[in-house]
Amino acid sequence: MIIAIDGPAASGKGTLGKRLAHHYGYRHLDTGVIYRAVAYAMIEAGADLSDKVLAVAAALELDPEKFGNPILKTQRVGDAASVVSAIPEVREVLVNFQRQFAADPPGAVLDGRDIGTVICPNADVKIFVVADPRVRARRRTLEARARGEDADEEAVLADILKRDDRDKNRAIAPLRPAADAHTLDNSNLDIEAGVRAAIAIVEAARARR
Ligand code: CDP
Ligand code: CDP
Repeated sequence: MIIAIDGPAASGKGTLGKRLAHHYGYRHLDTGVIYRAVAYAMIEAGADLSDKVLAVAAALELDPEKFGNPILKTQRVGDAASVVSAIPEVREVLVNFQRQFAADPPGAVLDGRDIGTVICPNADVKIFVVADPRVRARRRTLEARARGEDADEEAVLADILKRDDRDKNRAIAPLRPAADAHTLDNSNLDIEAGVRAAIAIVEAARARR
């Protein structure tokens, strides 16, 4: 069983992915972390983010052991991730790792931008998570403040909108719902209610199998 979750920035994909994986006893991969890790390696090396050769080298040298580094969560790294993720060669290098993760038993939940469209087009269930940009900015701001960062909600909103725009309009693997995705709007749902709504979608899909 493969559950694909996609959606714009800070829509709650990661939280939902983690909770669904826990509920079903599956493994979870937040694929955004992969692009963030590539971007961070570029930043650390002082590289130009559009340098294809260096970006591909960073993607080839990725170390999943470092995916837990809290610096990857920052806005600066997220913004850089949306620049390096638009490089086709970088995406190409990262496809196999994600597909392998999805295929391993007993099942997997992957969240990102192109899981239902490119990485796992045959996923058993596809959920496209959306929420009002203001709500997303508010949630991300609270999260940053809880980490001790000095976040301004208007700046966070501008960053989210800029990143969504870049992710939707790129030539390769643009952010968009797969034709067979179920859209889940959690603007007015807390985490628990969002998880319940997603489980209902998964159960309905399982019943149809
Ligand atoms: O993975 P993605 O960037 O899409 O979002 P996330 O990191 O899972 O969620 C962004 C923030 O929204 C986190 O602080 C979640 O706890 C929060 N959230 C929420 O308050 N209510 C929801 N229904 C979903 C997420
Ligand atoms: O957590 P948030 O939604 O803010 O971002 P993320 O999921 O960590 O992704 C960071 C950036 O990586 C996105 O803005 C995309 O440009 C890129 N990304 C992607 O291109 N494809 C994916 N499957 C996941 C992320």
